[in-house]
Amino acid sequence: MMGLLSGVRELHVSGWILVIWRLSAASIAGSQDVKLQVTPQVVSKCGENVTLTCTASSSRQLDIKLFSWNFKIKPVCQYGENRSDAEVVCESTADASHHNLTLTLMNVMPVNAGKYLCKLQSKVGAKYNSTVVAMQGCLEKNAINSINESHVGCWFTGVYPSSTIHWFCGDVNLTDSTSTKEEEDQHGRFSVSSNINVQKGNASLSYKCSLWMPSKGKYVSSRLLNIPRKIQSSGSTVRLQWICGVVWIIYFLVGKAEV
Ligand SMILES: *[C@@H]1O[C@H](CO)[C@@H](O)[C@H](O)[C@H]1NC(C)=O
Ligand SMILES: *[C@@H]1O[C@H](CO)[C@@H](O)[C@H](O)[C@H]1NC(C)=O
Ligand SMILES: *[C@@H]1O[C@H](CO)[C@@H](O)[C@H](O)[C@H]1NC(C)=O
Ligand SMILES: *[C@@H]1O[C@H](CO)[C@@H](O)[C@H](O)[C@H]1NC(C)=O
Ligand SMILES: *[C@@H]1O[C@H](CO)[C@@H](O)[C@H](O)[C@H]1NC(C)=O
Ligand SMILES: *[C@@H]1O[C@H](CO)[C@@H](O)[C@H](O)[C@H]1NC(C)=O
Ligand SMILES: *[C@@H]1O[C@H](CO)[C@@H](O)[C@H](O)[C@H]1NC(C)=O
Repeated sequence: MMGLLSGVRELHVSGWILVIWRLSAASIAGSQDVKLQVTPQVVSKCGENVTLTCTASSSRQLDIKLFSWNFKIKPVCQYGENRSDAEVVCESTADASHHNLTLTLMNVMPVNAGKYLCKLQSKVGAKYNSTVVAMQGCLEKNAINSINESHVGCWFTGVYPSSTIHWFCGDVNLTDSTSTKEEEDQHGRFSVSSNINVQKGNASLSYKCSLWMPSKGKYVSSRLLNIPRKIQSSGSTVRLQWICGVVWIIYFLVGKAEV
């Protein structure tokens, strides 16, 4: 009697398991039917426009509930809206079997870099895919220098990623006696500056400041700062100045670099 009862219960339980298994198998088959295609990675320079396309396709009729591009958990572009403002252009297009959600990021800056999630919710379930927007090194073509009797200063703006300034006089590396100041702007780029003391008695004709970008492992920009002869204080340093100048010319020819 007991044996018969437990046998019936087992049958009952395995019947339920079969039903649940069939249901989940059906929904897995349904969502596998839907494809969300994106470009895995896009690399951009500061100030460029970047277009991200998410293509949803299905062999069956796609009943879209929600289809969106999301950045840092927030939706930035939704299917069905055609939107255009200073920062983003959002466009939805479709043909018989494809639905495209196209997000264009205008004037891309480091704050816009990161993972963009494309999310699709339809009758058969939810699907995700993502594109990573990565930044290349950035540097504004903007030269700001300052020179007086005691200091030479050098600024670089619109720099990304974080960088430091190295100082040279000819082949003498003066970096260890200086420090680099760095400030981040609202776009995630940096303003980088550094000063060097020009000591009386060994003031040189020309100092070179170079922007070292550790992530690239190279100098991405170099500038020569000439100290006008009239603010030179001592005639006895002429020979040293001359040497500095000549060595620098060699450096300039060999060492000039761009990002
Ligand atoms: C995500 O997109 C890539 C590239 O189009 C594709 O190979 C991959 O299968 C997609 N993943 C999903 C879950 O749809
Ligand atoms: C980005 O798009 C805007 C609007 O279409 C255009 O004015 C601008 O020149 C574009 N920028 C670049 C770097 O192509
Ligand atoms: C959005 O604009 C595109 C062309 O720019 C058009 O083909 C499409 O039908 C529009 N979509 C909606 C939902 O208005
Ligand atoms: C959707 O995007 C793909 C890839 O960018 C493109 O080849 C296709 O023509 C687009 N289809 C529609 C309907 O816009
Ligand atoms: C030279 O410049 C430095 C840094 O900008 C400043 O601190 C200093 O007061 C200036 N000296 C003179 C004599 O103008
Ligand atoms: C100059 O000195 C700095 C700091 O010591 C060092 O990191 C850098 O590699 C040196 N550069 C060259 C070209 O010698
Ligand atoms: C000036 O000379 C001293 C000693 O020779 C040296 O340590 C220093 O680096 C020099 N400074 C500059 C700015 O050339």
